Amino acid sequence: MKKIILASNNKGKIKEFNTMLDGIFEVVSMSDMQVEEAPEIGLTFVENALIKARNASAQSGIPALADDSGIVVDVLNGEPGIYSARYAGNHGDDEANTQKLLDEMQSIPDKKRTGRFWCAIVFVEHANDPTPIIIQRGWEGEILREKAGENGFGYDPIFYVPTHKKTSAELSSEQKNDISHRGKALQALLAELKHKSIC
Ligand code: IMP
Repeated sequence: MKKIILASNNKGKIKEFNTMLDGIFEVVSMSDMQVEEAPEIGLTFVENALIKARNASAQSGIPALADDSGIVVDVLNGEPGIYSARYAGNHGDDEANTQKLLDEMQSIPDKKRTGRFWCAIVFVEHANDPTPIIIQRGWEGEILREKAGENGFGYDPIFYVPTHKKTSAELSSEQKNDISHRGKALQALLAELKHKSIC
């Protein structure tokens, strides 16, 4: 099995990736290889995913997989967007980020609460790979007025999935991985990697 580094420190994401990549790659983490995070200075999910993948591959010397993801709300002109993990100030404070989004949207009527999770996934064979594989997928939903469900992470408890009439925190991890932005992007990436005989 090919060894790759997963360029993320987000526990929720790492868990989802490990489940989906089990048996396909030997996945090592940033801490396994003492890799320092790169500053996310891009303006798009794709730019940030590329920065993370190149940085992890440069520091570890092995192929890297990175995702940059977040929630994009129409009535907020796409916010929190690439700033989803640090929306309320502190990086990775899911509770505060979710509360801030609920507060910002307090006066927004039901019809205008549409948005989507977005995921850009990048795979590089090496740090300077001139032909990275780049995949983007979205997952349509609505922002609720209060939380429901205990599964998942981040904004899952306030993200209502109309096709399943549940929040994404009320879906099982198998259900979520099957239909989510990250699940769909990873399925497409694996198809591309197989096509190129990389896995
Ligand atoms: P990143 O690790 O810099 O890409 O930040 C991603 C942030 O977007 C996370 O901290 C979450 O707040 C949010 N996010 C991304 N994907 C999901 C998801 O599947 N469920 C809930 N929140 C998510």
